[in-house]
Amino acid sequence: MTDGAVTGVTDYRGHMVLQRDGYADLFRKFLDRMKPDRIVEIGTASGGLTLTLADLIEQMKLHCVIRSYDIARHAGVTALLRNGVQLITVNLFDDTYRCFNQNATREVVSLIEFIRQPGKTVVMCDGGNKVAEFNLLAGVIKDGDHIMAHDFAWSENVFKSEIENKIWNWHQISGDDVFAAIDKNSLKPFWSRDFEQYAWLSMVRRREDGEPTW
Ligand SMILES: C[S@@+](CC[C@H](N)C(=O)[O-])C[C@H]1O[C@@H](n2cnc3c(N)ncnc32)[C@H](O)[C@@H]1O
Repeated sequence: MTDGAVTGVTDYRGHMVLQRDGYADLFRKFLDRMKPDRIVEIGTASGGLTLTLADLIEQMKLHCVIRSYDIARHAGVTALLRNGVQLITVNLFDDTYRCFNQNATREVVSLIEFIRQPGKTVVMCDGGNKVAEFNLLAGVIKDGDHIMAHDFAWSENVFKSEIENKIWNWHQISGDDVFAAIDKNSLKPFWSRDFEQYAWLSMVRRREDGEPTW
């Protein structure tokens, strides 16, 4: 970002990052506090956010595996493999985005098993349809896991008055899109004020019985 203008693009070690400047500090604090065992990113794009997270994990000496999904392999992104990132090129979602892709059952099952391993998982929805990604994956995460979605503002009013031309110019997911999933899956806001400054919805699953709804 230059002179306060919202560009939506920054750079990390030669990889484009579609995040607001300063995002790395927020994720550093988050990783330091939560020490997740694994991160799932939907929407690798050029891998700038993925590489930022991989570097933070290495610097903090955390034992955290990153798995990042995209429907296409963008140029230069294979460099991330050297950082131990698992890159998977597949569409996990049905064309209608109402359900998982039944033509990719193996990859879908692998993702669900990955998320459901013991320890803390963080799921970051930043792909082609954040609403569907959040709603489907909110039913997969287990107690204590986190789920986030990018390009978020609680409402169009909030977006227009507090976010657009100040913080972030893209609004693809609102409160109305996620209230039912939040309720059904016992999700609670986690550092939401901080994450909303970077257009991220941030939730943690807290459920007495610990049973996933998926
Ligand atoms: C907004 S960009 C991701 C930005 C990236 N996370 C970052 O912070 O730099 C969205 C990406 O989602 C990918 N995408 C679109 N549909 C997808 C899907 N069904 N599953 C996974 N990725 C998808 C696009 O190819 C694109 O690379």
